[in-house]
Amino acid sequence: MAEADASAISVGPVGVFDSGYGGLTILRELRKILPEYDYLYLGDNARAPYGSRSFEIIYRYTLEAVKELFSRGCHLVILACNTASAKALRTIQQKDLPAIDPARRVLGVIRPTVEILDDVSRSGHVGVLATPGTVASHSYQIETVKLFPEMRVTEQACPLWVPIVENSEADSDGADFFVKKYIDALMTEDPEVDTFVLGCTHYPLLIEKIRKYAPDHVRILEQGRLVAESLKDYLRRHPEMDIRLSRGGGVEYLTSENPDKFDALASVFTHHPVKSTRCTLD
Ligand code: DGL
Repeated sequence: MAEADASAISVGPVGVFDSGYGGLTILRELRKILPEYDYLYLGDNARAPYGSRSFEIIYRYTLEAVKELFSRGCHLVILACNTASAKALRTIQQKDLPAIDPARRVLGVIRPTVEILDDVSRSGHVGVLATPGTVASHSYQIETVKLFPEMRVTEQACPLWVPIVENSEADSDGADFFVKKYIDALMTEDPEVDTFVLGCTHYPLLIEKIRKYAPDHVRILEQGRLVAESLKDYLRRHPEMDIRLSRGGGVEYLTSENPDKFDALASVFTHHPVKSTRCTLD
């Protein structure tokens, strides 16, 4: 990775955080669309999944991860996790960042997803598939109403999808039951839904099965490209942040769990070999 030049402004990689492996689906698209930057990925695998945890815990764990990435030179951190974006982003932006360093930034994945909904949905009925934590926060409904008050958003919790992915069961026959179950529940709640938002960064790993059980007319939105395009636009509008990002096209991985275990499953997400190091969060 590019070294910070002591005579100039300090530069660092873009920090990408998720509770576990899911953020790798975002990182993959970031590296495709913004290949010139360096990235530092952090998965809090030792404490994943976050999706069923309380607000206080998700906020505390996310803040610890953000501080860790800041301490390793990141000026900009993407919460590549809907649960953390829903439960912790606002508090970190409003309460913590001004005290830690007002020049640093933390961005989430929900807003960039919501922004394009009216381009995609014809019926104006959107279904969000997400973790129980994201659904309980109603972040998707709240953000959508701000931009498109006429749109109807139905949020469906899928509590078993992250454990299925984290345990390498995404392609198993057993996964079919739970994929179908939550899709059926969503379509029963609002049969006019014509767009599914995969509101959890783990869910692209279940895309084949989600396609299999989604009604034919439904469009399925994955977040990676949306988040990457949105970051590109953000950096164009914020040159003061852009100059703080190191450019070397490199990537490093940190995990709070066993690195060998992380590397084995992470490579399924990234489609290339991964070599991580352990970091302790507290
Ligand atoms: N990948 C995270 C998300 O986008 C959630 C995973 C978890 O439950 O820890 O919501």
